[in-house]
Amino acid sequence: MDKSKRKAIIAGNWKMNKTPAEAKELLTAITPLVKDADCEVIACVPFVDLQTALEVAEGTNIKIGAENCHWEESGAFTGEISAKMLTSMGVEYVVLGHSERRQYFGETDETVNKRTKAALAAGLKPIVCVGELLWERECDITEEVIARQIKLDLFDVSKEDVKKTVIAYEPVWAIGTGKTATADQAEEVCAFIRATIAKLYDQKTADAVTIQYGGSMNDANADELLSKTNVDGGLIGGASLVAEKFAAIVKAASK
Ligand code: PGA
Repeated sequence: MDKSKRKAIIAGNWKMNKTPAEAKELLTAITPLVKDADCEVIACVPFVDLQTALEVAEGTNIKIGAENCHWEESGAFTGEISAKMLTSMGVEYVVLGHSERRQYFGETDETVNKRTKAALAAGLKPIVCVGELLWERECDITEEVIARQIKLDLFDVSKEDVKKTVIAYEPVWAIGTGKTATADQAEEVCAFIRATIAKLYDQKTADAVTIQYGGSMNDANADELLSKTNVDGGLIGGASLVAEKFAAIVKAASK
């Protein structure tokens, strides 16, 4: 399928950075730099920054996302935030299953699947992260790991809903390390993800899904990564905290 028919999406993942005042400053700096973007631009920000971010982004082409959500609508889940709470504010996207959540907070494919279904049911578009550890790549089981995550994370997600889901391929060894996957490595796994979705659903559905690459993507390597057939965008950590760098990646995706 012609890549240009898919929506290119550049999403910043701010992680645990920026107070509301700092979030306002950063988004205000990003706004004029990305206003002519020919791709979707998203800032996924900490919960406490959401209200500010939504206010600053109002009337601009920047969409706002959260960095997680719980699978229940409400109840005794101290410290958690539901998908409905997010949509009620005007949040459109949510990052789910990020490797830092899997690594440090006990997130499993089962909970990623529950969160994905809850997000979709509430009208949020999930950005579901998958990726292999370094030793898994060294043991040559990258495809097994990715196929397992895709199958489990998308279990029971309908064809219509999977089209609203963004997949972010983030090799764990490339996150925050400065070690980017080569464009060919990124393309290989993104193509494998699409093939896996085609097997689970059908080719037409797979061709409609936006698949991002994430892991040390920056203004210097974005062009090459985004030129690949199956790399439809990026999930950007570190570089999303610097307005000019983030804008340069958005520009690369707009070509
Ligand atoms: P990084 O993070 O760009 O800082 O490597 C990417 C991510 O974790 O989403």
